[in-house]
Amino acid sequence: MKYRIKIGRTVFANPVLAASGTFGFGLKFPGVANRIGGIVTKGITVEPREGSPLPRIYEFPGGILNSVGLENPGVRRFRKEILPELRRLKCRVIVNIAGFSIDEFIELVDGLDYKRVDGFELNLSCPNVKNGGVTFGQSPRMVERITKAVRKSTNKTLIVKLTGNFIDPLKTAKAAEQGGADAVCLINTLFGMALDESGRHFLGGRTGGISGPCLKPFALFCVERVASKMTIPVIGCGGIMSGMDAIDFLSAGATMVQVGTASLVNPKASLAVWQALGDWCRRHEVKDWEDIVGRTKRQD
Ligand code: SIN
Repeated sequence: MKYRIKIGRTVFANPVLAASGTFGFGLKFPGVANRIGGIVTKGITVEPREGSPLPRIYEFPGGILNSVGLENPGVRRFRKEILPELRRLKCRVIVNIAGFSIDEFIELVDGLDYKRVDGFELNLSCPNVKNGGVTFGQSPRMVERITKAVRKSTNKTLIVKLTGNFIDPLKTAKAAEQGGADAVCLINTLFGMALDESGRHFLGGRTGGISGPCLKPFALFCVERVASKMTIPVIGCGGIMSGMDAIDFLSAGATMVQVGTASLVNPKASLAVWQALGDWCRRHEVKDWEDIVGRTKRQD
């Protein structure tokens, strides 16, 4: 069985990616990065960002809440210091970019037009910034405009990372498709908050994004809802902790998956998910991805 997947111009060796913001730039664990389909970097903005005040993570049974606030070195430092290091990796590299205007998205893409960058993931779903992020991702019109503008600026693979926060992701996925995206990824974290004993917000950023296993049933629902109505591939994300979770997302219609929070617990989690997924396929004598992808719908 061939495990390769092509999205846009990029051929991924297998369908498992490390999700943005949970695997840094992949440089600390090349042995993992080089054996999965690829990595999606932490979100890069035009200007450097210090991110949200501490604390940034709250753990609860079933998941975590984060408010990192897109801390990153900014595009110039990323290009100068991190991009050359990324040449050491053999896997596919998708750069997650977070603009605060259409012009900024174009600036990011223009500034990162290098061979080592296989593609871009447009971050239209970060819940931890006042403008941009989720506010763009809740508007199908903005999703289409941003995607269209970026599409005109690059031939590289274009993935749009969508939100499930107070918007039907089918509407925004259709908008991304209309704008010329090669794939959509869903879902990013869902709004949440936690309080301390004195009734104050626990997180320095007050509110945050929920991720981890508790997200999986909703993410799966979103993937099935969107994938069956799209012509472009869907990348499933949300609470994937095991190979069986990945199989569930493929069954619901995802072509690829991203492993996020699991990597924060165990940096080798994405590789473990890929190995378990491959074992499962061999045990079940799967001949083609098409035998699994979207099989929930075929059983209707
Ligand atoms: C953050 O940096 O606060 C999270 C990024 C994201 O959810 O896209």
